[in-house]
Amino acid sequence: MDEKKITKEVSEFYDVVWTKYLPKVEEQKTFLLKHIGIENIKGKTILDAGCGTGVAAVCFKLLGAKEVVGIDISEGALKTARMLAERNKVDVIFEKDNLLDLKLKKKFDIIHSFGVLHHTADCRKSFDNLVRLLKPDGKFYIALYLKTPLTFLQQSARFFLRLFPKSMWVFISSQIKKLLSGKKNTKRGFDGEGDMLDWFFVPYRTHHTPKEIEGWFREHDMDSQLLIAKTGRYASTSNFLMLGSHGPKAK
Ligand SMILES: C[S@@+](CC[C@H](N)C(=O)[O-])C[C@H]1O[C@@H](n2cnc3c(N)ncnc32)[C@H](O)[C@@H]1O
Repeated sequence: MDEKKITKEVSEFYDVVWTKYLPKVEEQKTFLLKHIGIENIKGKTILDAGCGTGVAAVCFKLLGAKEVVGIDISEGALKTARMLAERNKVDVIFEKDNLLDLKLKKKFDIIHSFGVLHHTADCRKSFDNLVRLLKPDGKFYIALYLKTPLTFLQQSARFFLRLFPKSMWVFISSQIKKLLSGKKNTKRGFDGEGDMLDWFFVPYRTHHTPKEIEGWFREHDMDSQLLIAKTGRYASTSNFLMLGSHGPKAK
């Protein structure tokens, strides 16, 4: 698939996903406080790159960020994000933008991008584009799918499941959720069925390792550290969270 086709298909997929599932604000807030910390939120200018439902962006503002901008390629996601901001009575700027061809030029103290860049046609190009929007002393929090020896199994399952008609995808996701887990929600406040839909039916995804991303940061003369080795119960179905910065490694 070429860049334009991937971007279009991914955007249309999230138009559906993010108008159907709304994550829990309180759980997301707890997650951000634990892993990013209030000192990196309060009074900061923050970009949520690939904001989806806007839940992290809204939480950043609720937690006292000075200014929050959320960008996403999906109109459906942005509509949900604006509704979530209104519901929580916070002022967040949500704009349509493509990480592979950014209109945004402003620089930020903090860039947060959770589970996004691996859905772009060129993860490295999106990464480089975002690093350019970081202030010299800024921090970049990035979560990506973890590559493991079992990744090929998951990709094969995805290939097979995507052969079913689209009208069955939600039903299949609900059944997989029942099979795999009794838990209703992940730690970031997301619905399990939505997670399964995202996990198995997204049109495009790549997998990465902390070592690889450490190398990308190094090429920008940045230090990095692994904050969460796996966000889920199993490594092969997890993201990892990294922090990159020009300054000392301290959080
Ligand atoms: C798995 S969702 C993650 C959403 C959010 N960060 C979260 O943690 O809930 C991936 C998001 O990336 C967005 N996205 C994918 N490709 C993009 C691109 N090229 N430019 C901007 N956003 C993109 C999708 O529309 C989707 O909302």
